[in-house]
Amino acid sequence: MPPKDSIANTLIVSLTLCIVCSLLVSGAAVALKPRQEKNKALDRQKNIVAAAGLGDPKAMSTKELEDLFQKRVKRVLVDLDSGEVVADADEAYDPRKAAKNDKLNEPIESQFDIGLAKREKQTWVYQVLDDKGQVEQVVLPIYGMGLWSTLYGYVAVGHDIRTIKGLTYYEHGETPGLGGEVENPSWKAKWVGKQIWEEGAPREDENLMVGVAKGAPIAEKADYMVDGLSGATITSRGVDSMLKYWFSDDGFGPYLRSLAPKTEGAADGSPNS
Ligand SMILES: Cc1cc2nc3c(=O)[nH]c(=O)nc-3n(C[C@H](O)[C@H](O)[C@H](O)COP(=O)(O)O)c2cc1C
Repeated sequence: MPPKDSIANTLIVSLTLCIVCSLLVSGAAVALKPRQEKNKALDRQKNIVAAAGLGDPKAMSTKELEDLFQKRVKRVLVDLDSGEVVADADEAYDPRKAAKNDKLNEPIESQFDIGLAKREKQTWVYQVLDDKGQVEQVVLPIYGMGLWSTLYGYVAVGHDIRTIKGLTYYEHGETPGLGGEVENPSWKAKWVGKQIWEEGAPREDENLMVGVAKGAPIAEKADYMVDGLSGATITSRGVDSMLKYWFSDDGFGPYLRSLAPKTEGAADGSPNS
């Protein structure tokens, strides 16, 4: 045994401490991972509920949220290029991992720049059902670069497949009080009722009107655009581009057209699912 104040003893003690601490930290990380994943999934469910206006997720217990999801929300895997729903989807499919896997992703080549080079070929869409099991809204996952980070969120589209029902962001690294104002309830509320494509025009990219204005939108664009976030022009531009991108033919355009009412202005306006 080396003397207590020797260099060898100091090294042994510090090495032992390091090993014990790192075992504790990595053990905790491994043990807590399932709980973290569950909480993340729960948070996403809350955001979907908020985007679709199905209630205040903060006031719901986990059980109530899960029940609501079970009853009213159907998750389908959509092939973005064809717009078709994928049969026999793998429930464990993770679009974020797919976006990084060259077998499951494809390059983003769009006039609408979301600051990213690739996106997944397939992604989950959440169909919100009414009491009769008909699709009442669809909640689409969207993402794109802001100033500091990729913002991840959901946008809900009404059954006319033209009107935004809600927009939420559940993950981003923008500055609180500036770009972080994407989470501000009064800003989010401004999206409800905004039109995606020019009214009466086909759902084509050249008719995309939805977006974020610099400052307040001019009167002719007020049906489509929301005020920019002050002091956060870059984040605002990111939100503008990502909405246009995900509603375009490179994003959910083909899927949304497949849901759109066959005859615009049809009496019941129900989508063809
Ligand atoms: C500390 C700090 C944090 C910032 N965070 C953001 C942000 O989250 N989003 C953003 O768009 N701009 C942010 N900005 C401002 C940008 O750097 C840039 O000046 C601004 O987007 C331009 O807006 P303007 O054209 O209204 O001046 C931040 C600036 C500073 C100094």
